[in-house]
Parts: sequence; C-alpha cells; structure tokens
Amino acid sequence: MADNKQHETPMLDELENGPWPSFISGIKRLRDEHPTERINGVANDLLGQLEHSYETRKGYWKGGTVSVYGYGGGIIPRFSEVGQQFPESKEFHTLRVQPPAGNHYSTDMLRQLADSWEKWGSGLVTFHGQTGNIMFIGATTDNTQHFFDEINDYGFDLGGAGPCVRTAMSCVGGARCEQSCANEHKIHRTLVNNFTDDVHRPALPYKFKFKVSGCPNDCMNSIERADMAVIGTWRDDMKVDQQAWKDYVAEKGRQHTIDNIITRCPTRCMSLKDDDSIEIDNRNCVRCMHCLNVVPKAFSPGDDKGVTILMGGKRTLKIGDLMGTVIVPFMKLETEEDYETITEIAENTIDFWAENGLEHERCGEMIERIGLVNFLEGIGIEVDPHMIADPRQSSYVRMDGWDEEAVKWFERQAETAQSAAG
Ligand code: HEM
Ligand code: SF4
Ligand code: SF4
Repeated sequence: MADNKQHETPMLDELENGPWPSFISGIKRLRDEHPTERINGVANDLLGQLEHSYETRKGYWKGGTVSVYGYGGGIIPRFSEVGQQFPESKEFHTLRVQPPAGNHYSTDMLRQLADSWEKWGSGLVTFHGQTGNIMFIGATTDNTQHFFDEINDYGFDLGGAGPCVRTAMSCVGGARCEQSCANEHKIHRTLVNNFTDDVHRPALPYKFKFKVSGCPNDCMNSIERADMAVIGTWRDDMKVDQQAWKDYVAEKGRQHTIDNIITRCPTRCMSLKDDDSIEIDNRNCVRCMHCLNVVPKAFSPGDDKGVTILMGGKRTLKIGDLMGTVIVPFMKLETEEDYETITEIAENTIDFWAENGLEHERCGEMIERIGLVNFLEGIGIEVDPHMIADPRQSSYVRMDGWDEEAVKWFERQAETAQSAAG
C-alpha cells in the first residue's frame, strides 16, 4: 500500500457505530494492522470500492468464469468494474471450501487454513456461509489455483456452486450432544463422498443439498433447507429416569411442570401421576423433543435408534417454501449394507430428478408437479401409511379396498421382519 493512499470512508465509518461487531472494523484491521503489505492494499481498495458503491448506490462486481484444474464449480468469480480506481482488489473471487463434518476443527487446522489464506488471498473468511461452506473471500484469478493446491494437499476440497450436489451440513452430533440418535458425520461423509463428481461438475437441473441432524431437534434445519434430510430418531420407548423426573417436579413445583411440560406435549401423551412419577404413552409420542429438551436428565431417546429420511425441502423458488416430505419413516443405520441402502436411495432420487426435473427446478418442486406417488414409483419406494399426516382425517386418502390393502401391508411387514431375522 506504500504508494497507494488510504481511501476516505465516511459512509462506511457509520457502520462501525452501534453495539455490534462491524465487518468494516474487521476489514480496517486488515488494512492497518496486518503485517503483509499486499493484504493492506487489498483491504484498502476493497473499502474504497465499497464506499464508492455506497456513494453512487450501485454495485460494481460482475461475474465471469474462474475455476481450478479439473473442477467445474466451487468458485464464485467477482471482477471489479471499477478496477482502474481500485486495482488491488480488482479480482476478488470467493472460494467455497467444505468444512469437516459437524464443523469439528482442531485449532491446528484453523491456523493452517488461515496461514494459507493470508499467503494467497485477502485474509477475509466467513465461518460458515449459508451454504455450509467456509467462504474464503477475495483471491485473484492466479492465486485461486495456488490456494486450492495448497489446502487440497492437506485434505480440504472445494464445495459446490451452481446446479450440482452442494456442500452438505451435519449437526455437532454425538461427540457433544446427548440427544444424538445417529452417526451424523458418517452419514454426511458417506453421502457426499459418493457424489463427489456431482459436487465438482455442475450438471443437474439445479442445486441438491444433503443435511443431517442427529435427532428431531433438527439443528441443521434440514426439513426446511435440504432436498434430502436425514434425521436421527428412535422407535422403541424413550428412556425415563423417574428419580430425576421427581427431583425436577420437586424443584419446580407441580403447576410449573403441568403448564410447561405436560400440557405442552403436542399429543397429550404424558401423564403426571399422584406420586409425581410420569407415565408416557410412547405409541402416541411423535418425538417432538419438547420434554427431552426441557428435562434432559429425566428423558432420553430410546435404544432402538435409526433415521427418518425426508425429501424436497427448499426455500422460495418457482413455488413458495416447501418442507421435506417423509419418504422413509424409519430405517436402521448400523451395518455397511444399511449405509449402502441410504446411498442407493440418494442415487435413485438424484438420477430420477436429473431425468425428470425441469431446468432450475428443485427436487421438491418436481415432486409437487408430478405428484408424490409418481416420485415414489420413480425411486422404487413403497407407499407407506406413515407418509401421510393425519391419514384418518385426510380427504385425499382413498378407503376403497382398504381391508385387502391392509392385509397386504401386514403381509409385507411380516416378510420384512422375517427376512431381517434371517
Ligand atoms: C452483483 C453482485 C453480486 C451478486 C449478483 C451476488 C449474488 C449472490 C448469490 C445469488 C448468492 C447465493 C448463492 C447461493 O445461495 O448458493 C451469493 C452468495 C454470496 N456472495 Fe454474492 N453476489 C454479488 C456480490 C458479492 C460480493 C461483492 C461479495 C463479496 C465481496 C459476495 C460474496 C458472497 C458470499 C460470501 C456469498 C455466500 C454467502 C453464504 O453462503 O452465506 N457477493 N451471492
Ligand atoms: S440435531 Fe439433535 S443431535 Fe444434533 S446437535 Fe441438535 S439436538 Fe443434538
Ligand atoms: S417428545 Fe414430544 S410428543 Fe413425545 S412425549 Fe415428549 S412432549 Fe410428548
């Protein structure tokens, strides 16, 4: 920055007021305090362009094509339209890099990434963007390749951008969380690693996201945000520690307990006994997690753990927000065969959608357009009564032939149970 004078930033300075941390202060720190002159210069010109944008109320970044060898995506190119005035930040590409599953870093890993980025990039990083990636913001076209080579050497890979399988997300999971019912990180890596080609070479109708939550609290918001959501759950009875429960009632009082737990159970399946013990009608518990979250010492997930799979969640696009639809109500994920089965479900879904989805149509929108029944047939999954919310009240459920169908369903269940028993 030696021969480049500091840009005045009166409008940006306003953004440093108020009680919250300011990204402007952060960029100024890179400009004034970072030991590398190149980074000081980049930060200075970035602030200059941003101030210019605020003054003229226009954005000056345009896209383009930048990639690293062998990859078709993962980099969001940004070229400045006012590069002559702000030459040091005129190429300011973003690299999306996949974080470790569950965002489990070691401080060594973070230092290593930060060092590489300060060597090749602007020093600006977001942990993590909405896309689930580490966002390394601000590299020149040349340095993009150098930075990628360096971090790839020690094990990191680019994430997805464009119409492809995107970077997946999984919750912190069993390592830190008592509610975990699944091996979140194994599911995450198994699914994404199987689709590495589809992450790096955008060739699908639109984006496809996997998200994995270890329990129905769904900390990853996978129901709302993932084309394929995998959520841990259990199918036996939840575990109850009656003494811990009684201690809770004694501490908080009956009224508090009734107002905040018993009457808040959405299916009214809890009953407080006269001796302050608790009775739970597990068949009617919908695993909403409320009681488990409020009294984690007394309630915990059962032992027969597995996952529920939902498809089609997404934010507004052609049609409004969609929540995922249950495709597999419960499956065990223990053996390698179980993992092969879940991978197969994902493969069948992506193949079917790649063939039948319209351009720029998310999987959930395709399901809405062609109907759930056709989708299920396409991916080879049997219709199951558990897929319908309130089947007894839905006017779309056909009851003709009910008895024969019920017999067939029980037969199929018995067959599955028999083949599972070997
Ligand atoms: C005309 C200018 C721009 C357009 C049209 C644009 C458009 C977009 C869009 C559509 C996304 C969402 C992508 C997705 O959901 O996968 C996005 C994300 C992002 N953009 Fe921009 N962008 C622009 C300028 C910039 C600039 C100037 C920067 C930084 C200097 C930037 C940094 C980012 C980052 C970091 C994300 C990812 C955010 C996240 O994942 O949370 N963008 N942009
Ligand atoms: S989704 Fe469940 S298991 Fe995962 S972090 Fe949240 S509460 Fe814990
Ligand atoms: S998890 Fe939800 S539905 Fe189940 S018993 Fe607790 S509050 Fe009721």
